[in-house]
Amino acid sequence: MPEHTPLFAAPERSSTAGFVLRRYMPGDGAALSEAVNASYEHLKTFMPWATPTQSIEVSERLVRDFSGRWLCGTDFVIGIWAPDEKRLLGGCGYHLREGPIELGNAEIGMWIRGDRARKGLGTEVLKALLRWGFSDWHWLRLAWRCSGANKASQRVAEKAGMAREGVLRSHSVDPDGTRRDTYCYAALRSEWITPA
Ligand SMILES: CC(C)(COP(=O)(O)OP(=O)(O)OC[C@H]1O[C@@H](n2cnc3c(N)ncnc32)[C@H](O)[C@@H]1OP(=O)(O)O)[C@@H](O)C(=O)NCCC(=O)NCCS
Repeated sequence: MPEHTPLFAAPERSSTAGFVLRRYMPGDGAALSEAVNASYEHLKTFMPWATPTQSIEVSERLVRDFSGRWLCGTDFVIGIWAPDEKRLLGGCGYHLREGPIELGNAEIGMWIRGDRARKGLGTEVLKALLRWGFSDWHWLRLAWRCSGANKASQRVAEKAGMAREGVLRSHSVDPDGTRRDTYCYAALRSEWITPA
């Protein structure tokens, strides 16, 4: 971000009946470690960062790094918390992968913990991120990209109402080393917000 650009004050949290979306804070490392360790088998196919075990120390460093990037406006990594905020149900975020923050574009990423997957949570979280992103945030375009082999991810994007814009052929490599197509979805603020 250019030095003269005022720092962006990102909205910090959004609550629904089933979950809370909020940024990671120092001290969240234990909850992150517990959630990813309990979910390794579920995450390993499509999440290149997943490891069989992730210590509390490593997780704590990560959440502090997320927190720093949030404050500097360079990346917005968000925890999906149970309503009492004690248990981490997954992670998501608005990532600046399509250009600088001033452009108003972000790519949404997401993982759901293994014992909560396939119960509708991913779809509800994506809908909430689109609603929140086009209301309290300034995003004009929110994208979603996934491996052509990731049927759950494609289905979640479709169920949340995102448009499939295209397929990048043989564009990425899954963690098992297989080259895959990348499926590209997006939603635009202009089509999401109903004019008054
Ligand atoms: C992809 C992910 C976020 C989806 O969240 P979720 O809570 O499991 O999804 P939902 O329960 O809302 O399911 C949405 C749809 O996907 C389908 N689906 C879920 N898991 C599936 C699977 N493993 N294979 C095929 N379809 C699947 C569901 O059946 C549902 O479709 P339907 O209503 O037509 O039956 C989650 O499975 C996950 O964390 N995966 C590992 C990480 C990942 O791949 N993240 C996305 C990277 S782009």
